[in-house]
Amino acid sequence: MKLKGQTIVLTGSSSGIGAEAARLFARRGARLCLVARREEQLRDVQQAIQAEGGSAFIYPCDLSDNDAIAACVAQILADHPRIDALVNNAAHSIRRPIEDALDRLHDFERTAQLNYIGAVAITLKLLPRFLEQGHGHVVNVSSLSTQIPIPLFSAYLASKSALESFTRSLQAELGHKGISTTVVYFPMVRTPMSSRTAIYKYMPMMDVKKAAGWLVEACEKRPARIARPMGKVGSVLLAAVPGPVTRLPQPLFRGMDKLLANRLKKKG
Ligand SMILES: NC(=O)c1ccc[n+]([C@@H]2O[C@H](COP(=O)([O-])OP(=O)(O)OC[C@H]3O[C@@H](n4cnc5c(N)ncnc54)[C@H](OP(=O)(O)O)[C@@H]3O)[C@@H](O)[C@H]2O)c1
Repeated sequence: MKLKGQTIVLTGSSSGIGAEAARLFARRGARLCLVARREEQLRDVQQAIQAEGGSAFIYPCDLSDNDAIAACVAQILADHPRIDALVNNAAHSIRRPIEDALDRLHDFERTAQLNYIGAVAITLKLLPRFLEQGHGHVVNVSSLSTQIPIPLFSAYLASKSALESFTRSLQAELGHKGISTTVVYFPMVRTPMSSRTAIYKYMPMMDVKKAAGWLVEACEKRPARIARPMGKVGSVLLAAVPGPVTRLPQPLFRGMDKLLANRLKKKG
């Protein structure tokens, strides 16, 4: 699918993977609708795109606010007669043991509201236009860690799994009406999100440019899934033998966290 002339709504485009992907999409000739809360950062991305001769529009919006989403999408629909794709990339991650979250139900509510409900809300508002056009591609961003269960990210990963499930329903119900979907399962990527956890400083991670390339591939090739081979194998094993696959690697993850913490202590 050629992206030249296509209009793409990209959330979470003020930072990290989204900001990088916005520039890549624009270089392919796509027109970008950039959505995130921070207007100044969105404007920086817009200006970088325009400086290269690309086309981008900004829509500052808090995607954890359903009314704000409705107003934002109404404006996007009014401004653009055709919208070809939606990339639900905005998200918030929380790294916290479940035992430390006993009084923090709001961790689960907040991640669900932004990462799941927010993405669904924007999708539902754009769907009538997609159906009217007879085409529309929805890319939902998830994580390798829903394919290989890791500890400490329960609220975040539950919200991503819910989004994956919604994506499958969307494809199953509306595929015959021209709606296509991709779930992107990123591994750890060096961005402001992953940098918030100090011990990850020396962890090998995917480069943000490569991750942004996955979002472009999702819109160009429109596969059902983009994931590392390790994640694909993880999904099969998880479906076949969920108990051992969930239990057995955990000592390894605890050991890795200790190793990373020691490395941080030594190197600073
Ligand atoms: N980095 C990783 O290791 C990793 C791994 C697996 C999956 N992912 C996924 O990749 C995607 C991009 O993450 P990233 O690493 O690029 O993170 P990031 O640099 O922290 O960017 C997150 C983006 O989401 C936006 N956002 C956050 N809260 C928002 C809200 N309430 N309303 C609107 N926008 C909001 C932020 O913009 P504002 O602050 O301006 O609103 C920002 O543009 C996410 O879906 C994440 O879950 C990342």
